[in-house]
Amino acid sequence: MKKLIAGNWKMNGDNASNASLLDAILNGLTGLDGCDILVCPPSLYVATVAQRLNGTPIAVGAQDVSIQEKGAFTGENSAGMLRDVGASYVLVGHSERRQYHHETDNLVGEKAQAALAKGVTPIVCIGETLAEREAGETNAVVKRQLAAAVHAVGHCVSEIVVAYEPVWAIGTGKTATPEQAQAVHAVIRAQLAAATPNATRIKILYGGSMNAANAAQLLAQPDIDGGLIGGAALKADDFLTIVRAAQN
Ligand code: 13P
Repeated sequence: MKKLIAGNWKMNGDNASNASLLDAILNGLTGLDGCDILVCPPSLYVATVAQRLNGTPIAVGAQDVSIQEKGAFTGENSAGMLRDVGASYVLVGHSERRQYHHETDNLVGEKAQAALAKGVTPIVCIGETLAEREAGETNAVVKRQLAAAVHAVGHCVSEIVVAYEPVWAIGTGKTATPEQAQAVHAVIRAQLAAATPNATRIKILYGGSMNAANAAQLLAQPDIDGGLIGGAALKADDFLTIVRAAQN
């Protein structure tokens, strides 16, 4: 299976900086076709970024999606709209949305289902907080979050991507060790295997301070099928180094 290297730009960038970041990444991509690559800009820029990347190997995703198809839902974007402007992936349940927008496990599952219904691949983000890890609850939390998504998408489970992002590792410079990450990824894989015979084909990404220096070791783990990268995805050289580490 090809690995997937996904950049979550979060609420960063503008037209000028997006264009120069993409130019620099595209310039450095020659010969690097051994992994899938994705960038997720803020929703306002998804269309422009998709136009720029049309015909290139880089896919475009959004960072959130509504569970509604259309109507009086001010401020929301539907999966059909994301697809219409060129997005083929969408993050659902990022910890920042769970934390700041009080998204529940069930809502995240519904978002994953809404995306799949329009042919957009959901990247279901799960992960424990520091307090939960210290209380020994990591596996239980991750399993609970994943179970809601698996339940919501039903027989389409083999079409999702999962991202394990320990909250304590996001933006903190504290990465899970390759062993810590692999241990949780193995739990996730086992849970997926209970839901579908195709679990080995489901990509499980690691996210949380993945960078140019630690990517190779993380990506070498048997159940780590790619990365969801925040800060380091905003620097072309760092992102390219991670893409290089993910070549099959
Ligand atoms: P950082 O790579 O900045 O820690 O962010 C990870 C993340 O949240 C990606 O979705």
